[in-house]
Amino acid sequence: MKIKIQRFNKKTKIQEFKLGKSVVTLLEGFNEIKTKIDASFTFRSGCRSEVCGSCAVVVNGKEKLACGYKVQDGDIIEPLKKATVIKDMVVELDNSMQKNSKSLNFLDLKSDKIPTNKDEKRIEVQSNCILCNSCYSSCPILEVNKNFLGPFALSRNLRYVNDVRVENIKEKLGAVQSNGIWDCTLCGECTLVCPQNIDPKTDILMLRTKSIQQGFSDPTYLSFDDFSPSGFNPNF
Ligand code: SF4
Ligand code: SF4
Ligand code: FES
Repeated sequence: MKIKIQRFNKKTKIQEFKLGKSVVTLLEGFNEIKTKIDASFTFRSGCRSEVCGSCAVVVNGKEKLACGYKVQDGDIIEPLKKATVIKDMVVELDNSMQKNSKSLNFLDLKSDKIPTNKDEKRIEVQSNCILCNSCYSSCPILEVNKNFLGPFALSRNLRYVNDVRVENIKEKLGAVQSNGIWDCTLCGECTLVCPQNIDPKTDILMLRTKSIQQGFSDPTYLSFDDFSPSGFNPNF
């Protein structure tokens, strides 16, 4: 079986590799290339069982975890998109992690409330995020607005908004108003690629509803005040 891999800092940008018959997953293929063919080939991995999220790459244009993907003859492998490539399959992740902090995705430690099983169920799905960055790679808004907070930061914001230990929900929601929930086009690409079956698109819709309940509004929505008695306000 032969696969093509986008290389960093090589004369030939796309390099073809022949893999042995025993190789099943793409991560096994990466290991074979590294140990037997080209020691300079660089990739990230950890758990080898779709838990740590470190091995996400793009296969034939779609985001996949290398340790869970059954490699096929002719596959074309690239690093995650919308992130600076450090080397080969390794991309810089600081940017998305900073957006996660900017979205105030953490607990207020002052609270002494103890969540019940039912409370934990409400935040279970979003808590399963493995920070693989696949959703960031797939999101078209990040192509045009680098400041967009992005799918996983917004899903995790909902996780904290729904947490009974968080006392100031409005503060958490306030953090995702600008370059956040109103900038998403609801295309659903992030939902399609998530290996943990998290649905950022629906989470963003829920954040919009909760924001309106808390007095925020869609900044792109025209109110009656934007219209003059004679028609459309030319100064708007
Ligand atoms: S649904 Fe929104 S966050 Fe998800 S990929 Fe589309 S634009 Fe990005
Ligand atoms: S939401 Fe899904 S795709 Fe996005 S980082 Fe978390 S696990 Fe990965
Ligand atoms: S190596 Fe941990 S998810 Fe693939």
